[in-house]
Amino acid sequence: MTQNTIHYSELGLVNTREMFAAAVDGGYAIPAYNFNNMEQLQAIITACVETASPVIVQVSSGARNYANAVMLRGLASGAVAMARQMGSQIPICLHLDHGDSFELCKSCIDAGFSSVMIDGSHLPYDENVAVTRQVVEYAHKFDVSVEGELGVLAGIEDEVQAERSTYTQPDEVEDFVGKTGVDSLAISIGTSHGAYKFKLAPGEEVPPLRFDILAEVEQRIPGFPIVLHGASSVVPEYVQLINQYGGNLDGAVGVPEEQLRRAANSAVCKINIDSDGRLAMTAKVREYLANNPSEFDPRKYLGAARAELVKLMKHKNEQVLGSAGKGC
Ligand code: G3H
Ligand code: 13P
Ligand code: ZN
Repeated sequence: MTQNTIHYSELGLVNTREMFAAAVDGGYAIPAYNFNNMEQLQAIITACVETASPVIVQVSSGARNYANAVMLRGLASGAVAMARQMGSQIPICLHLDHGDSFELCKSCIDAGFSSVMIDGSHLPYDENVAVTRQVVEYAHKFDVSVEGELGVLAGIEDEVQAERSTYTQPDEVEDFVGKTGVDSLAISIGTSHGAYKFKLAPGEEVPPLRFDILAEVEQRIPGFPIVLHGASSVVPEYVQLINQYGGNLDGAVGVPEEQLRRAANSAVCKINIDSDGRLAMTAKVREYLANNPSEFDPRKYLGAARAELVKLMKHKNEQVLGSAGKGC
């Protein structure tokens, strides 16, 4: 690292090693919440401190561009300081979500991230192995954790758009983990990114995730930390509020909570949630502005959105992921 770089330990952050080991052992999952701005990060920290949950705060490259890389580092160290000021010692990891190149991962590691994802899932297998290995070699010099991915989720993965998902092939996982040295593996078992995860005919139920694939993966790499992307429930109350107050999200549907509970109980030890936070914020901003048409103070409508985010994340930690109480 050069003089302009900083190690995550100086920001009070931790990598994923201990939190994943405890989560795999304990049959729960660490929440990985995406953020782009201060209000979202304040909500994540408040919810996780109040539920004593370990937490991964994660940013996509789009979020990094939006927030500015230097500002982001300030936000992350502010998040740790805020948790400590609240009297909490919960472990906090700063993670790059869907890194798409070695250069981006290196830049985040140099800027103080304690974990990075290198997503080579859309590449031919050997290229995925090669770029993932390259990131691992650099990251591990600084004790930074690395998440790789096998199998492609349908939907938008940052700038990468996949039309259809390709499930993870269990017979590749052992080789991939062995050759790359990754610390965790994201798999594709039927989830997808965004608010439209399943196309359902009227009255049709959400199909179950491919727990058979997950079980086979677990058999081949016992105890290895598995990551589930695209894990928002697309909370119906928020979709309904958004539509009620001028939005149009017809047909939005997510992963039912009982399926996420089942996943959290298995080797899945990191569950990624972004869309639910976006929906909660949008619902509350729309509701607030519709009910208070003469209000123009951003603290009012963003404050309403932030309060709802806290409620949502506490619910997830306590009732879905099982991470509440595991952070101290
Ligand atoms: O998996 C993608 C995350 O939801 C991040 O989305 O690239 O729009 O920030 P974004
Ligand atoms: P959702 O769109 O289901 O929230 O998934 C988020 C995610 O996987 C971020 O990497
Ligand atoms: Zn994702």
